[in-house]
Amino acid sequence: MMLRTVVAVLALAGSCRPQFAPPTVKISLDDSPEVRWTPLLQVFDADYLNKAAATVIDSAVPKWVHHAVIPIVNSLEKYVPQPYAGEIRGMASQLGGNLSDIILLNFAYEITAFCTSIVAQDQNGNVYHGRNLDYPHPVLRNLTINIVFLKNGKAAYQGTSFAGYVGLWTGQSPHKFTISGDQRGTEHWWNWWKNVVSAFLLHRSPASWLVRETLEEAEDFQDAVMRLSKTPIITGVYYIVGGVRAGEGVVITRDRTGPADIWPLEPISGGWFRVETNFDHWLPPPPTDHRREAANKALNATGQDHINMTSLYQVLSLYPVCNGITIYTTVMSAASPQNYTTVVRPQLCISTD
Ligand SMILES: *[C@@H]1O[C@H](CO)[C@@H](O)[C@H](O)[C@H]1NC(C)=O
Ligand SMILES: *[C@@H]1O[C@H](CO)[C@@H](O)[C@H](O)[C@H]1NC(C)=O
Ligand SMILES: *[C@@H]1O[C@H](CO)[C@@H](O)[C@H](O)[C@H]1NC(C)=O
Ligand SMILES: *[C@@H]1O[C@H](CO)[C@@H](O)[C@H](O)[C@H]1NC(C)=O
Ligand SMILES: *[C@@H]1O[C@H](CO)[C@@H](O)[C@H](O)[C@H]1NC(C)=O
Repeated sequence: MMLRTVVAVLALAGSCRPQFAPPTVKISLDDSPEVRWTPLLQVFDADYLNKAAATVIDSAVPKWVHHAVIPIVNSLEKYVPQPYAGEIRGMASQLGGNLSDIILLNFAYEITAFCTSIVAQDQNGNVYHGRNLDYPHPVLRNLTINIVFLKNGKAAYQGTSFAGYVGLWTGQSPHKFTISGDQRGTEHWWNWWKNVVSAFLLHRSPASWLVRETLEEAEDFQDAVMRLSKTPIITGVYYIVGGVRAGEGVVITRDRTGPADIWPLEPISGGWFRVETNFDHWLPPPPTDHRREAANKALNATGQDHINMTSLYQVLSLYPVCNGITIYTTVMSAASPQNYTTVVRPQLCISTD
């Protein structure tokens, strides 16, 4: 396999659980929202999922938020649009769990701490897109899944996510475009929750729902960029989008109401790749955060004539681009949807320098 060398190297790096491919779950959009997530239970034990959800909620959700979601629990359909309301309700009942917990979990996963996304184009105009998703809770390694969403029995779009979560931070619409999302800035935890809960109560969409809707509905790269730029959402975020033609790659910096900046590939003038972590690309990152610099350097060293899915994966494997809280890495290319690959990273197996 194309990742063999990298796998071998990482296997030597530590004695903890080696990296692995997550399970794939097929979710049929032809089924009603209440029952479509049932296939999760073919892969996960309901007890394990409930316990895992409880530990994530304990570590990531402030207590006052538990109270803030009470109105949402009491009238889910009033605050949460379809199909998400039905999906959340259905998951809670199938897992034998708590509606309130599934809602909190879906808020908790709106935080995607330190992420790195890269879109790049080779000399033949092929576009590649890769991302690391970082989250400071190790149990997410065991909850990571690839999801194929089916429509009329056929794959409509796919993504990588966590069991129990209805949004997507990573995905592709085959032969059209790929999307990843990175959290914008490191707003204080407390403020972040305040903003998210109030915006949610005002009926704005979580940033990850817009990713899923765009994968489901957008016709092509241009249409996807338009939707991701303009649709109001609950927090600022970076959306990174790759297409199928030369030049189709962009980093969208989002405010809650609209685009703050659009940063496209400019292969003619040397801009054959774009790296986005969690800070506006026109500003320096905090002095202790070397991910952007390390990724830029590694891409420069790789060169446009050697960039492909394998070399992009290698860039995403370098410390500190890949680090102690990196949960998974996905590499994808909308023109070759069959090559979509996600690897769950071993915990703390990456050497520190
Ligand atoms: C569901 O969770 C809420 C808040 O975490 C808790 O107050 C309630 O007792 C739980 N209900 C059940 C049935 O476990
Ligand atoms: C994840 O799963 C592995 C293998 O099943 C297990 O050894 C490990 O304890 C689990 N980790 C967490 C944090 O639940
Ligand atoms: C990468 O190469 C470009 C163009 O040669 C240069 O402007 C940039 O400073 C380099 N970046 C790093 C981190 O080496
Ligand atoms: C990627 O590029 C490397 C080096 O140029 C090459 O050895 C490898 O076969 C390529 N892999 C793919 C999947 O194209
Ligand atoms: C996709 O995978 C196939 C089979 O491994 C390989 O031949 C092809 O070069 C890959 N395409 C891309 C764009 O990496």
